[in-house]
Amino acid sequence: MSFTNPNLRFADRLGKRSLNSYDEVVEILKVVGGGRLVGEVRVTGAKNSVLKLMAAALLAEGTTTLLDVPDILDVEIMAELLRRLGCEVSHDQATSMVIIIVPAELDHRADYDLVRRMRASICVLGPLLARCGAAEVALPGGDNIGSRGLDMHVEGLIKLGARAVNEHGYLIASSQQRLRGDSVYLDFPSVGATETILMAAVTAVGTTIIDNVAREPEIVDICTMLSAMGANISGAGTSTLTIVGVDALQPVTHRTVPDRIVAGTWAVAAVITQGDITIRNARVEHLEIALEKLATAGATVTVVDDGFRVTMDQRPLSVDIVTLPYPGFPTDLQPQFIALNAVAIGAALVTENLFEARFRFVQELARLGADVRTDGHHALVRGRSQLSGAPVEATDIRAGAGLVLAGLVAEGVTTIYGVSHIDRGYAEFVPDLQRLGARIIRIDEDAD
Ligand code: UD1
Repeated sequence: MSFTNPNLRFADRLGKRSLNSYDEVVEILKVVGGGRLVGEVRVTGAKNSVLKLMAAALLAEGTTTLLDVPDILDVEIMAELLRRLGCEVSHDQATSMVIIIVPAELDHRADYDLVRRMRASICVLGPLLARCGAAEVALPGGDNIGSRGLDMHVEGLIKLGARAVNEHGYLIASSQQRLRGDSVYLDFPSVGATETILMAAVTAVGTTIIDNVAREPEIVDICTMLSAMGANISGAGTSTLTIVGVDALQPVTHRTVPDRIVAGTWAVAAVITQGDITIRNARVEHLEIALEKLATAGATVTVVDDGFRVTMDQRPLSVDIVTLPYPGFPTDLQPQFIALNAVAIGAALVTENLFEARFRFVQELARLGADVRTDGHHALVRGRSQLSGAPVEATDIRAGAGLVLAGLVAEGVTTIYGVSHIDRGYAEFVPDLQRLGARIIRIDEDAD
């Protein structure tokens, strides 16, 4: 067993191994509970935006530059995927910049070995179909949080004139001619389906109207970038997108929207540890409901320059939450709020409406002594005055964050396995936690 230098940037640590060998390395986090987190953190660009911005770059031949790119595993996976399609991709961690050089001719097949590692790989489907008239994308894996269908992606592309079949584990889409605009209605405001259809429609012939689209800040971000590239899009941030197809797009330089889920995780960290954290490069307007819930729990949230500050000086009160598409409460903050409720005064009802398997992490939280009962998509959390440290396994990115938060307040040592899940979404998590006063280390278990 040896310590991993937490100050090494993620890509530097990764550099010692290939992407494929990363899974074989067992890294763990050890957290000693107790103590307030106090200080300041800066949030980077959003994972859930930058992956799609990288895919959107495929729509324009030439050099796209993305700024404020987080140093996380998913960015490395997407970079590798784009390289396999024929792009040159460099990621300068020091400046948080990704440069993508897109050739005139692209390969149009995204293989299973990368797609299985990250469900968001599906976001190359729309741009590849638009650019190449064909796309073959392995059916994705990714987070272990439920079935997550692709029916709305496929139906939308078919509406625009594509053929789509599922063969040998691949989704194969093609179109003899340029796609043509049409009206598309989504049964549910799916983030991924909105992005797929949007990226396919920007260079279609004629007008596409997509109704009941997702309204997440990450959708607004990609619309902003596509518009700068020359796309004609109106309605970003509302339930209807109108896209008038253009012949071609040009590459641009674009700054990624801040990661509201990472900002929200830090806000919960302040509350659960009864601490005081100033979160920079964060937008309160992207987190309204979550921050209101924290205020109900007893926290003080104040807007500061380029972000907000969360302070807490008492044991939190429990808060009910119901996850919904934006602007509702984000499912990606649900595990963190369950952790908070696990040590709060009172009982809370948590309703998960997006991903049925997201409650799997509750079994891990129970290992720390949390009192959580689930029934279908509801969880009843009865707050305990004290959790007790134990070994636990992160089952997805946000479950990992929830377990770290619980470990910060559990008595004794909590050991967290499945760290690669956390690496998929949180850049500089351990060093930032250390700077705020957490007693946490990262250990490489296979290196004795
Ligand atoms: C994105 C985010 C994820 C977040 C989620 C909801 C990325 C990389 N991931 O995931 O972190 O939790 O939004 O905010 O951006 N569905 C279908 N058929 C479809 C599409 C979706 O049934 O064609 C269902 C899914 O199974 C799921 C729900 O719709 O139950 C939400 O999915 P969606 O909004 O598409 O989420 P993702 O884009 O996968």
